[in-house]
Amino acid sequence: MSNETFEPRVFSGMQPSGNLTLGNYLGALRRWVEMQDEGIPTVYCVVNLHAITVWQDPEALRNATREVTAAYIAAGVDPTRSILFNQSQVPQHAELAWIFNCVARLGWLNRMTQFKDKAGKDREKASIGLYAYPALMAADILAYRATHVPVGEDQKQHVELTRDIAAKFNHDFGVEFFPMPEPVIKGAATRVMSLRDGTKKMSKSDPSDMSRINLRDDADTIAQKFRKARTDSEPLPSEPAGLEGRPEARNLVNIYAAIAGVSAEAVLSEYGGRAFSEFKPALADLATAHLAPVTARMRALMADPAEIDRILGDGANRAAEIAEPVVAQVYDIVGLIRSR
Ligand code: TYM
Repeated sequence: MSNETFEPRVFSGMQPSGNLTLGNYLGALRRWVEMQDEGIPTVYCVVNLHAITVWQDPEALRNATREVTAAYIAAGVDPTRSILFNQSQVPQHAELAWIFNCVARLGWLNRMTQFKDKAGKDREKASIGLYAYPALMAADILAYRATHVPVGEDQKQHVELTRDIAAKFNHDFGVEFFPMPEPVIKGAATRVMSLRDGTKKMSKSDPSDMSRINLRDDADTIAQKFRKARTDSEPLPSEPAGLEGRPEARNLVNIYAAIAGVSAEAVLSEYGGRAFSEFKPALADLATAHLAPVTARMRALMADPAEIDRILGDGANRAAEIAEPVVAQVYDIVGLIRSR
């Protein structure tokens, strides 16, 4: 079955677990805005049900949900053109997730590398939610019968699992109900790495704040973090091939390229042969100039939480208008009685 039988629709989400990083911004958020601006119907969600798969302080979770909403808008998601909402306000996600828990196989979930990373050594102590997490993600995407999912590289495996769930559902029930959603992983920084260790992903849960740029960092903090970023002592190479075996150098070049909207080749043709003592301040200037307006907008939006709640309420109504008939049809296909 091809996706051509389905209207194109974009779905993506981010967890409100702590603040957003430059990785979230360059790996995903920027692409979301581009896709919205291309005029494709776009649905963007704050996935608070995913966040509680690990412990969240309730008050901090409420606040982070609003902050992530503010970050989406500050980065250019327009709540009148995109549907912008919060997952728990649209109960169809949890309803469909249960059905997908019954479609997905243990063997599939056992292969998920994110679960292995997040559960760590003591897997017995991980929540069932953390294990079943990809089935909820599949429900997010498929409740809208979305065809395209812009994400960073670390989410590719989950989108592929979503395709497996869609295919098994269609096959088991003899229907062509769900599309096969495609991951959209594009740009120079689909995997932004830690500033302290170029082999580790930049992450909001890293214990070291120096490892990441947060969207709410001020200009001085951003400059300091780039200045102190770990690097080797060689000058920059003049071509990307010279970045082989130099993960920290590669990361900084990719970040520069992604923010400037150019290729790594272009960055190296300008900075090849130059020392990090020259490149890092240039990168800090570029990043602060680019992020300052986003941060300022985010702060302004956070000053009016009632307005954020209004936007989320409106978004939830519009999201439910799409998701409810889809989930009602799924109930019907599965043989579950839904009417009262
Ligand atoms: P989350 O909240 O971890 O990350 C949100 C988005 O940011 C991307 N990202 C990165 N990209 C590049 N470099 C990095 N260092 C980096 N860190 C994060 C992620 O790839 C993601 O696109 N399971 C998802 C949330 C989710 C979702 C969905 C996504 C739930 N339902 C449905 C798409 C569709 C997650 O935990 O992302």
